[in-house]
Amino acid sequence: MTEDRALPGYTYGQVPRSPVTLEELEELKRTVTFGEDDAAALRRSRDILADQVEAILDTWYGFVGSQPHLLHYFSQRDTGRPIERYLERVRARFGRWILDTAAADYDQTWLDYQHEIGLRHHTKKNQTDGVDSAPTIPLRHVIGLVYPITATLRPFLQAKGASDEEVDRMQDAWRKAVLLQVALWSEAYTR
Ligand code: HEM
Repeated sequence: MTEDRALPGYTYGQVPRSPVTLEELEELKRTVTFGEDDAAALRRSRDILADQVEAILDTWYGFVGSQPHLLHYFSQRDTGRPIERYLERVRARFGRWILDTAAADYDQTWLDYQHEIGLRHHTKKNQTDGVDSAPTIPLRHVIGLVYPITATLRPFLQAKGASDEEVDRMQDAWRKAVLLQVALWSEAYTR
């Protein structure tokens, strides 16, 4: 599999088709109440967040790193030591994910990569980066992380002087977008 040389393991546009159809994605969007106004709010957030990606990742990684039961999933299976190379490579793809999510271009290519991300948390964990870490991440933690990921985004959305109402709008769109994605990722676990 080829990949973006600047971003090891990022194979967007080069993965098999998602078992979820575009029509089913549209249905899921309606379930989450994700509409065009949310896509527009996400795109506005992209301009605000783009130059803050590293600081956002510091916050999120700081959170995961402070929780031994989460850091476990980035650690060597036998020694329990965090694998720095794994943390770094995933962090870079996570940064790209922030921008992809905010671009809100949720087409077939995006949908396919969602299934790949689900697999990477489950049966394909460790393969992309060639590591020997915990074999899979329990779905309960993936669902549970939706709250801290979206709550901690707020100060970054506020950083460029947007009104409280606009920050609420963008944060709500982010909550829906992350929930939507985790719902798609759950397919890899439940099929
Ligand atoms: C809302 C919840 C979560 C989000 C948004 C999220 C986001 C991501 C993203 C964007 C990637 C990289 C995808 C790629 O390869 O392009 C990733 C990979 C990864 N995430 Fe998560 N994640 C979540 C939950 C969790 C949890 C709870 C853990 C547990 C510590 C975790 C650990 C990992 C690990 C270890 C990888 C690398 C998997 C591999 O070996 O390929 N994630 N995550």
